[in-house]
Amino acid sequence: MPALLEVRNLNIGFATSSAKPQRDLASSPTQTLHAVRDLSFSICAGEVLGLVGESGSGKSLTSLAIMRLLPPQASVSGEILFGENGQSRNLATLPDESMRRLRGSQIAMIFQEPMTALNPVMRVGDQIAEAVLAHGRVSKREATAMVVEAMKQVAIPEPDRRARDYPHQLSGGMRQRIMIAMAIVNRPQLLIADEPTTALDVTIQAQILELLADLRAKFSLAMLFISHDLAVVSQVAGRVAVMYAGNIVELGSKRDIFEVPAHPYTRGLLEAVPNLKTARPKPLGTIDGTVPPLHAMPPGCAFEPRCVLRVPECALAMPPLVEVGPGHWARCPVVNAK
Ligand SMILES: Nc1ncnc2c1ncn2[C@@H]1O[C@H](COP(=O)(O)OP(=O)(O)OP(=O)(O)O)[C@@H](O)[C@H]1O
Ligand code: SF4
Ligand SMILES: [Mg+2]
Repeated sequence: MPALLEVRNLNIGFATSSAKPQRDLASSPTQTLHAVRDLSFSICAGEVLGLVGESGSGKSLTSLAIMRLLPPQASVSGEILFGENGQSRNLATLPDESMRRLRGSQIAMIFQEPMTALNPVMRVGDQIAEAVLAHGRVSKREATAMVVEAMKQVAIPEPDRRARDYPHQLSGGMRQRIMIAMAIVNRPQLLIADEPTTALDVTIQAQILELLADLRAKFSLAMLFISHDLAVVSQVAGRVAVMYAGNIVELGSKRDIFEVPAHPYTRGLLEAVPNLKTARPKPLGTIDGTVPPLHAMPPGCAFEPRCVLRVPECALAMPPLVEVGPGHWARCPVVNAK
């Protein structure tokens, strides 16, 4: 199946002045911190790719790069190809005006905390209508009809009445539904959801995940679903990419990742997740150590300082992603050799 989104060799860096004290500040050398390194993945129409990784692994930067919403000081290289049937365009170099038209219409995004993304002094219906009017040549009356329809799609009861509410009058779950309505109202092909349920309690989280799965099926929506929570990702994603220190270390189907994980980091993450089969007396696994800071990234495998399987060669050069099974990739020569 052809890809709808193909990210190729994405690198995101931030220039910073050297950490070492300098006598002459004017000549202080700058160092680039590489927050995302050589990242490649693709998503087909109607497919959900889960992007999982712990805090600071570069998940949000990746999504912001696709939306072209990175802060101006970020330096970006690589290609972000979007579109089907040989019509793909590189979002990394698209003119600003074309990108503005595409954002919110063909690619939409929902964030973790709807209260910060919604305007607190504007009625929610008007905020959804704004998303319609910004992109379509429709009348106000048509926009209102589209707002009510989108609110129905996300299962908000009495949408005509709730459209007149302000964000603070709605519960957290309802606010997230409003954000989703705003994202889908223009029928995008790709939805990027960055930790969309992290701020919600567990029962509401389950309802939102179910809603996203329904919308994906109904509209053949492709989705980049970002979370630090493997259990959440397993509920929505068909394929999963595991990120560590700005890099994908393993990529495969949900079954590959959850049943036959190859990379030592993925295995460590899974051992740290409790499940119904976990024997009570058996303690959960932990991964010793912490993610290396951006200014002290090891030259070899970034997981090497914490890895129980490391061999001396691991510290020499970053290993490539290698296909270890059909569509299943891992960045670890030690496990690949087994
Ligand atoms: N504007 C910036 N300047 C410098 N470094 C930044 C900037 N924005 C992000 N970073 C760094 O880039 C790295 C990746 O950040 P990112 O927000 O993508 O992580 P994340 O995987 O989304 O984490 P979380 O799960 O906490 O949301 C972090 O180390 C972060 O400190
Ligand atoms: S390359 Fe070496 S250090 Fe890195 S995950 Fe594999 S075994 Fe561990
Ligand atoms: Mg983030």
